[in-house]
This record gives sequence, C-alpha cells and structure tokens, in this order.
Amino acid sequence: MGKFYVTTPIYYVNSRPHLGHAYTTMVADLVARYRRQRGDEVFFLTGTDEHGQNIERAASASSLPVREHVDRIVAEYKQTFSQLGFTYDYWIRTTDDYHKQGVQQLFRKVKENGYVYLGHYEGWYCVGCAEFKEETVDGSAPYCELHDRLAERLSEESYFFRLSEFQEKLLDYYERNPKFIRPEARRNEVIAFVKAGLKDLSISRVSVKWGIPVPDDPKHTLYVWFDALSNYITALGYGNYLENRFDKFWPADLHLVGKDILRFHAVYWPAFLMAAGIEPPRTVFAHGMWLSGGRKMSKTVGNVIDLNTLMRHFSNDQVRYFCYREMSFGQDGDFTYEALIDRVNADLAKGLGNLYSRTMKMIEKYCDGKLPSIDASKTALGDVILAAKERFEREMQDYNFSRALEVVWEAISAVDKYISDSAPWKLAKDPAAQSELQTVLYSSAEAIRHLTLLLAPILPTSAETMWKGMGLEGTPLNIVPATVPWASLPQTIISPPVQLFPTIDKEKLMAEIAKSSDIQTEQKTPTVTIEDFAKIDLRVALVLEAERVPKADKLLRLIVDLGEDKPRQIVAGIAQYYAPEQLIGRKIIVVANLEPRKLRGLESQGMLLAAQHSKEGRPILAGFLEDVPVGAKLK
Ligand code: MSP
Repeated sequence: MGKFYVTTPIYYVNSRPHLGHAYTTMVADLVARYRRQRGDEVFFLTGTDEHGQNIERAASASSLPVREHVDRIVAEYKQTFSQLGFTYDYWIRTTDDYHKQGVQQLFRKVKENGYVYLGHYEGWYCVGCAEFKEETVDGSAPYCELHDRLAERLSEESYFFRLSEFQEKLLDYYERNPKFIRPEARRNEVIAFVKAGLKDLSISRVSVKWGIPVPDDPKHTLYVWFDALSNYITALGYGNYLENRFDKFWPADLHLVGKDILRFHAVYWPAFLMAAGIEPPRTVFAHGMWLSGGRKMSKTVGNVIDLNTLMRHFSNDQVRYFCYREMSFGQDGDFTYEALIDRVNADLAKGLGNLYSRTMKMIEKYCDGKLPSIDASKTALGDVILAAKERFEREMQDYNFSRALEVVWEAISAVDKYISDSAPWKLAKDPAAQSELQTVLYSSAEAIRHLTLLLAPILPTSAETMWKGMGLEGTPLNIVPATVPWASLPQTIISPPVQLFPTIDKEKLMAEIAKSSDIQTEQKTPTVTIEDFAKIDLRVALVLEAERVPKADKLLRLIVDLGEDKPRQIVAGIAQYYAPEQLIGRKIIVVANLEPRKLRGLESQGMLLAAQHSKEGRPILAGFLEDVPVGAKLK
C-alpha cells in the first residue's frame, strides 16, 4: 500500500471535448481505480488549460468575453467527464487564483536560483502551437503544417529560462531513471533531442494579455506552458493556500500525455522542477493518437468522434473496453464505430456476457439458484485463474492495458471451453454425476468471481452488476484481488440472470449513428437572417491563371476575373486535389468581400467555394451546369 498520484494533461478550452481528449482521462481513470482497488491512496488530477492567445482568439471568434467563453467550455468538459463516470479527485483550472499564486511562486524560486534572465526574443511564432518555430534557410516565415498557417514574426522583451544548463542534468536523469519516459521508443527520441542541444527558453510574453502576470513585472505574462505544466504541483497546494497534498503526493507517479506534448513534459517540466529544487516526476507515459478511419481526427476533415453521439449509443463500459483493448498503449489506434460494434459483439456479448449468463442460468436451473459448495481440492480451473491473475497484474503495472485484457479474455475462453467440454447439461441428466455437475458449476462461478475482480477497474458498472448478481457482498472495487484465495466462493443465492451485453444489430445502429451525427451538424449551424446572408458577396469568377505556391504542398495561387477593373489573386488550399491546368478557364464561385489574408506572404483577395466530401475530406469545387456571365452575383 502506498500513494499514487496520476495526472492527465489539462485541456485547452478553445473547443468542445472529443474522444481524443476523453481518452487520456479514461486511461487515468483506469489507473486510478486499479490503484485504489489495490489499497493505494490515490490522487487523480485532471482539468483545463485556460490561458494564452489561442484561447483569447477562440473567445473572440465565438463573440464572448474570454471569461464567459472559458467558463462555458469548462462546464461542458465537466459535464461530459461526469457522464463518462470519471473518478477524478480534483479539477484544476489555470484561471483559478490558487494556481496563479503557485505558478508565480515557482517562477520566483527558479529566478532566485539564478535560472531566469531578462532578454529579447525575436522569432517565428505559431499561435496554434504556442511556440517559436525554427528559422528557415531563406529567412522566410515558416509554414506550420499542423495549423495550416504561416508563423508570425515576434520580437519582444522576454524572460528566459536557462534550459541550456540542463542538458547534462536531464540526460543524467534519463539514464538513472529508465522508466521516466515511456514507452522506450519515445524515450530514445527525447534523448536524441536533448543530445542535439538545448537553447534557452523564452518563458514570458508582453504580447499576450490573457495570462498570469510575471511577479514584479506585470507587463509580462508567463508563457502558457510554464503556466500549464505547473498545474501538477499547484493542485497539490504548492505555493498557495490549498490543502497541502504536496508533501504526501509529490513526485507524481504517472503523468499521462499524448505523444504530441511529450517534449514539454519530458524536457521542459523536469528542467523547471530541477531549477526550483523540486524532484521530477517518476514516469511520463506518452500514448498514441486516435485516428478515425485511418486519418488524424480533425474538425476540418470532419472525422472527429463526438462524445455526445458516442454516449448516446454506447454505454461507458462498452466505450472503455474498446478504448483500452483496441489501442496498444503507446501506439496510434483507429476509432471507428464499426470496429467498436464488432468488439462489443464479439468480446462483450459473446465472450464475457455469454459466459456469465450461461453459468448463472445453469446454477438457477440445476442448483435452484444457490451456489453449490464443494471440496476445494476437487475444483478445476484454479491454476488457469491464478496464472491469469498474476499475468494481469504484471501487464497492468507495466501499463499494457490491451495485453492485460487479452489475459482476461484468454481465461474467459478457457472457462468456456471447460464448460463445453464437461457438458453440464448432460451431467444434469445423470443422477450419478451430480457431484461432478456441482464441481463444474462451482469452478466456473469461482472463475467468474475472480475475473470480475480483475475487470472492476475496466468495466466498473458491469463488474458491479455481475458481483451483485452472484449474490456476493461488498463492492468489487474495494476488494484486493490478490487477497481472495481460490475456492473460497461462499454459498450465496444468485439473482435471476440478466443479459449484461445484448448483441448489437450493427446495420441498424450504424444507420442511427449516421442520423444523429447529421442532426448534430444541423444543430451546430445557427440560423441566420436574410440580412446576414446578404452581407456575403458571392460572385462568379473565371480562373485566368493557376500555379503551385513554391514550398507549400497544399496551396495554389489563382488569378481570377470577377468582372472588376482588374483581376484578383486568390490563394487556395486545394493543390493536393486539383492540378493548376485543370482550373484555367473554369468558372468558380468566390466570396468577394472576405477580408484579405496573407498566406505564405501572398495576399488572398477572396475565397473560393467548394463542397467537402465528408468521408475523404477532399474539396470539390462549386460551379455551374449552364453558362453564366463573369462577375454575376449569387443570391
Ligand atoms: N493544454 C495542453 C496540455 C497542457 S498539459 C500541462 C494540450 N491540450 S489539448 O487539449 O490540446 O490536448 C490534451 C490531450 O489530448 C493531449 O494529451 C493530446 O495528446 C490529447 N489528444 C487530443 N487529440 C487526440 C487524439 N485524436 N487521440 C488521442 N489523444 C489526443 O495539449
């Protein structure tokens, strides 16, 4: 028994949560329940990352004051996470006052220890990534693939953190703590990155207002990642008035993060902590990304798995099972509703559900619903179950959730096979085989009881139902599996068996899901008045010239005639789908009064219209079947 501190990243509040966000917390929930079940005192932290330019922009896009915008998204996150049944102990918000105090204290400490200086920073900054980008060879603005935009030049007074002084200290720490960064492949990447050299890090901005002021120099706000990473200690009461949990729970036992933010956690964070004289965390585990239909989930592609849709059609246990089983922890995984339904049907309905109900039904029928009592030495399956329990613990402690589940399902198959081979329905007909029948039923029920205990952190609701259904006392999440000996099943009275996981009619459910995601898209689009619509100047345009934009795989530069004095230049992100020569001479539709925007240094004086192919995400240009004069207005 000990303490266990597990954290998730804190989520940006610039958009609503989707499956990718829920996933990290779902894994943390599994680890937290697993540890609690084994008697550890657990502190499970999750929350929201609410400062920075990105959030400010998202708020202004939704025409809300920043405070109101963040409060709304936080409320939505909290509601979703509670519907998903997550058992976090604390929700941190970086806009809370105690967090601000703690972050400022950390900054003071790092500064006091000589690791902060004031300088000037000039560089290419991508607002989306909230980080400065590498200089390009020709000095032009680097293009951020991830956010489909050019980085912006930023030069300002800034406080710097002496990250360069930590190269050796970090490498030494990685060396001495081989489990600090996991999985192994990611650890090697981080080591290579640190070996290549570390530059000092700018940790304050004068250009960002929505942030935590630098102590004694409030025109600066702290860099969002300095602010955000500190959450892991401020939530424990570091440098503030919250209850002191720091002494008990720090260092964190497990920071769960997506691989996209590993560097911040495995390089910057331990360096900040070392600079403040605080011990670094024990393990940072970087999980892979959920793809959807083979592609990264993204709002523009339209393949984001919406949590409301998911929760409407599936139970939490079904979703949990799929996420833990399907994604080999540490690698990318593909989330599709088809695969989810297939797993539910094969593993939960046919596997676990069927084993449970067939066993309970036989106990009802052949033993009047009372679990038989037999001599322990006569039981079968004991070795199978004990071996499974041992392997399960090893895999779970190594964070191999998928394999831990395989172990349980192998045991389920073994019990199934044992039942089929012993054919209790035949034994029931033979008066001389009554004790053999009882052995089979007792052994199967005892195996199910042990497996239920293992499954409790994974499928909390179903495990509870199975436990109660078998007439057992207490709650499985409060029982340490290792303390339950084999063949100690009491003679309880079972409840009439329920169907735990009904088989899903795949075709029918897929149609319902398609329908509900259509409804959602419709709901999300607000109704506009005709006056609103009239503000948009849509025109027919003729493409005169088209060419690729050098070094930008996605962009085409078009010269189009809108029937005005002179043609316009439009930069469009369609180069992967249309060759320039396909477009010359074609009539398209252009939003003519859109605010001009620079892309790769080229001004785009309008936007062309295209339909989005929802499955593949490819754009299809809008046009006309009949001939139409250039410059004609659409209304
Ligand atoms: N605010 C930062 C984290 C600061 S932690 C001190 C952030 N937020 S985020 O909202 O963008 O992402 C939060 C987590 O969600 C990350 O771990 C990220 O990897 C995870 N995911 C977002 N999309 C995902 C998938 N499609 N699949 C799996 N996880 C993904 O980064």
